Amino acid sequence: MPIADKMVKMVEAASFIRKMFEEGIRMREKFGADNVFDFSLGNPDVPPPAAVKETLLDLIDDPKVTHGYMPNPGYPQVRQAVADYLNKEFGTQLTPNLIVMTVGAAGALNDCLRALINPGEEVLTPAPYFVGYNQYAFVAGAALVTAPTKPDFHLDLEAIQTGITEKTRVVLINSPNNPTGAVYSAEELDGLGRVLEAASKKFDKRIYLISDEPYRKIAYDVEVPSVFDAYDHTIVLTSYSKELSLAGERIGYLAVSPKAEDAGLVAAAAGVANTMMYVNAPALFQQVVGRLQGVTVDIGIYRRRRDLFCQGLKEAGYEFDVPQGAFYLFPKSPIENDVEFVNLLKEQNILAVPGTGFGGPGHFRLSYAVPDDIITRALPGFKKAMDNVR
Ligand SMILES: Cc1ncc(COP(=O)(O)O)c(C=O)c1O
Repeated sequence: MPIADKMVKMVEAASFIRKMFEEGIRMREKFGADNVFDFSLGNPDVPPPAAVKETLLDLIDDPKVTHGYMPNPGYPQVRQAVADYLNKEFGTQLTPNLIVMTVGAAGALNDCLRALINPGEEVLTPAPYFVGYNQYAFVAGAALVTAPTKPDFHLDLEAIQTGITEKTRVVLINSPNNPTGAVYSAEELDGLGRVLEAASKKFDKRIYLISDEPYRKIAYDVEVPSVFDAYDHTIVLTSYSKELSLAGERIGYLAVSPKAEDAGLVAAAAGVANTMMYVNAPALFQQVVGRLQGVTVDIGIYRRRRDLFCQGLKEAGYEFDVPQGAFYLFPKSPIENDVEFVNLLKEQNILAVPGTGFGGPGHFRLSYAVPDDIITRALPGFKKAMDNVR
């Protein structure tokens, strides 16, 4: 093998996603772009708020704007702006040294895991989970271990308690959740905090909570509670990929709770990990987001699509929990084998992702980061696919 043995499985997993992507291109060429209904990618299509363009234009003319090297964790004034915003939102006492500007949420996840994990240690995450976690854990040399969620995809605290071992270093959660759309309540987060405190005592080892929150602003009529309140030893990370529709600009941050054990050291280690991989987050977009704290895309667009999709799928006989956040639906596959059902959807020119890839077999994921008319015109195909298996 010309590539590292440990990479072989990773390349295979990546080729599965690439195959799906290529299949979409092939189908568009064959049937025409308007006749392919691609719900496979979570790529935000809602335009960034007008303030993004205005800020970019301002920055281009601003002689104070710099494009050179900077302190590797990010511009001090941007980290101050992020800390001020979070302190106002969550009543925390964050200081800029506890913030690291990162290359998206993916960069932040990589930084935190590499900052915390020793060889052979485990990262525990509730399943279904975002597939990228496999890669980030791999890079950090950690084993990714899963704990099942409840039937409504909320936290099963007993399963988490059972899943924690002396090897667990990090519990990694994501709310609003990709792929399920679940938003964890303050009560379940408090319960999780108690489980982690007890497990840290039991194993005489600090277990950190990492809260991956790129969908925090995309929630429908529910509060997304602060994880800082639930457990002191928490790192919150996020990006502007979804809330400002800037996924390709690769900008995000991580924030280590001031109450976390060795908070300053953890943030410093995450900053060094960032330096080793990316040196620093993109300069121009740090300066953009530094000026746009609290600004978000029009969530009403995602809500409208969610409602449209839910109504149509319900009428076609699909079963699912109405998502409270993010922009994914995770319906039950009407046949046991979700991979097979996704292939049946393909016969209707519909592209979806099997739940098996997210550790959620028997389901499939649909992204509604697509125009309304794609949803409307795909509904007859969803009905046909359902009728064919009933
Ligand atoms: C749950 C979750 N975490 C992290 C990421 C990575 O986000 P980013 O593109 O900001 O790196 C994604 C991207 O879709 C995601 O869904």
